[in-house]
Amino acid sequence: MENNSRRGFMGMAFGAVAAVGGVFALGGMKRAWDQLPSVKAAGFTTVDLSTAQANVLNVEKWRGKPIFVLKKTKDMKADDRDVVVGSDRFHVSIGLCTHLGCIPGYNAEDHSFLCACHGGMYDSSANVTKAPPPRGLDIPPFKIDGTKLVLGETGPEYEKMLADGITLPV
Ligand code: FES
Repeated sequence: MENNSRRGFMGMAFGAVAAVGGVFALGGMKRAWDQLPSVKAAGFTTVDLSTAQANVLNVEKWRGKPIFVLKKTKDMKADDRDVVVGSDRFHVSIGLCTHLGCIPGYNAEDHSFLCACHGGMYDSSANVTKAPPPRGLDIPPFKIDGTKLVLGETGPEYEKMLADGITLPV
């Protein structure tokens, strides 16, 4: 009896480890996705960027979609798609491949996103570097409020990106 329950417990423990291992393998990354402190309310997600670490992909959630937030290192190329907060640059995008909607994984070693579904690749600003994705990852409406990123609100930086054709409205 005691053995059975122990086996049951070990089985569950192994199952939990296997499930966590699966999540790690799914992302194909050394680290699991990180999350920054965030608050969600009626269509908006407010993310505190002040504790973000460079070159660590954070995945937030906005309106049921994964949102990539990546603080760039100083040696990553600056891009018109960057969200500038103080002296830091961030890449922010909807984490759904513009080909058929899979979630790309981030490779911190070469600063690229790879979509495993059909081999599409993006650079650290989520510009396409290898087809078939037809365009870079879309940028969600955002507003900068001090060190906070408000997803779902339209601030002047996002309006400028739309006006310049850097992203499509979503
Ligand atoms: Fe990403 Fe096809 S869904 S390359």
